[in-house]
Amino acid sequence: MHTLNNFSKMEPASFSKAAQLYGTPLYVYDEALIVERCKAALAMPNAYGIHVRYAMKANSNRTLLQIIDRQGLLIDASSLNEAKRAVLAGIVPEKIFLTTQEVPAGEERTDLEDLMKKGMLYNVCSMRQLELIADFARKHGMDLSMRVHPGVGSGENVTRNTGDKYSCFGVHREDLGKALALAKEKGVRFTEVHVHIGSGGDPEVWRSNIDLELSIIEEHFPDCETVSFGGGLKEARMPNDTYADIEDLGNYAKEKIEAFYERTGRKLMMEIEPGTFIVANAGYAVTEVKDKKRTGSDGFNFIVTDGGMEINARPLTYGSEHPFYIITKDGKLRSSEFDLSNIDYEGIIVGRCCESGDSQCLDSGQNIVERTMAEPEIGDLVVIGGAGAYCAAMTPFNYNSHTQAPEVLAAADGSLKLIRKPQTLEQIVENEL
Ligand SMILES: Cc1ncc(COP(=O)(O)O)c(C=O)c1O
Repeated sequence: MHTLNNFSKMEPASFSKAAQLYGTPLYVYDEALIVERCKAALAMPNAYGIHVRYAMKANSNRTLLQIIDRQGLLIDASSLNEAKRAVLAGIVPEKIFLTTQEVPAGEERTDLEDLMKKGMLYNVCSMRQLELIADFARKHGMDLSMRVHPGVGSGENVTRNTGDKYSCFGVHREDLGKALALAKEKGVRFTEVHVHIGSGGDPEVWRSNIDLELSIIEEHFPDCETVSFGGGLKEARMPNDTYADIEDLGNYAKEKIEAFYERTGRKLMMEIEPGTFIVANAGYAVTEVKDKKRTGSDGFNFIVTDGGMEINARPLTYGSEHPFYIITKDGKLRSSEFDLSNIDYEGIIVGRCCESGDSQCLDSGQNIVERTMAEPEIGDLVVIGGAGAYCAAMTPFNYNSHTQAPEVLAAADGSLKLIRKPQTLEQIVENEL
């Protein structure tokens, strides 16, 4: 039995089987692990109840949404289309929370109103959104949520920090007086307050946000019944990565929400909206080695695979590191990121795009860096772990006219199921005139 990392129960042979059945590149998702992560999130310590909303931006595949929905999680949608996609997957609007930068007009406005009438909660993220929705909300007796910009944030790197002055998500703390005066004048109430400080952020900052957000609620939001601490629970993808201890964060939040009750007599429901925590380590991008090159005697070993930035753009976008597994065509594990003790080969995994940043081995300065792994043979699989979140959902997949890769579920009963067909070249060009 060769399990691949500390979390997943996947066997190397499952990847070679999936590759034979569906071709490479492809994504494989471990259903059992997704279910386990949903249960862990729901079990986070809390004072007076917890809602867990899955941030579907991390991975919006309908089968995954349905698995997560069946576990009792709610949905956080980052766009109107995401909300509509959740509904298409069979999720009722009452379970959806819309947190968007969009300012819907025309047909989109009609769609927004329809979803709100069916129970979707709108999380107002700017003064302009508030001005545009207030009369409608009052007319229909709807309560709203407000995303507050806390002025401090944290993320895996600068572009993933959503809470400081370099990002513009939410109504800034300094504008709360103005926003709440307008809400009062219009006769609308905020029953939820939301702060999301960033993706994959520092647990310490997450903790201090709990204090800050509760003080904002105490000072400004007398009608608030639910406090949402957002997502951004840090996950460990690589062996030495640190991760958020949700037991510890939950206990901290519980204590602070109980203290809030002591002071105010108000029992707040706690809400979190993880994406990464639920799906990151349950996903793998499976690619095949097609070529090997060396860039001179003082150069590097390049391993050319059939899936790079258009399969996983996180290294190029954020300098993120993902674990690699080198697996033979017939499913034998040559090396795992989680045990490199006897391995001295250094290589650089690249894709097939005509782009020198098309590499899985980049640092945060976008420099190409060597990584240790068993030397792969042509035809071996390079399986990229930690690829369940922000990979299939966030890649430039038609770059160089590569077709979008299929997605496969490694189901809890051990079977492999195709859950998104591969895109065809005809589908890439079908809207061109
Ligand atoms: C508003 C909001 N909520 C939740 C998340 C999920 O973050 P993560 O995937 O790090 O849990 C994000 C991601 O950026 C977000 O923008």
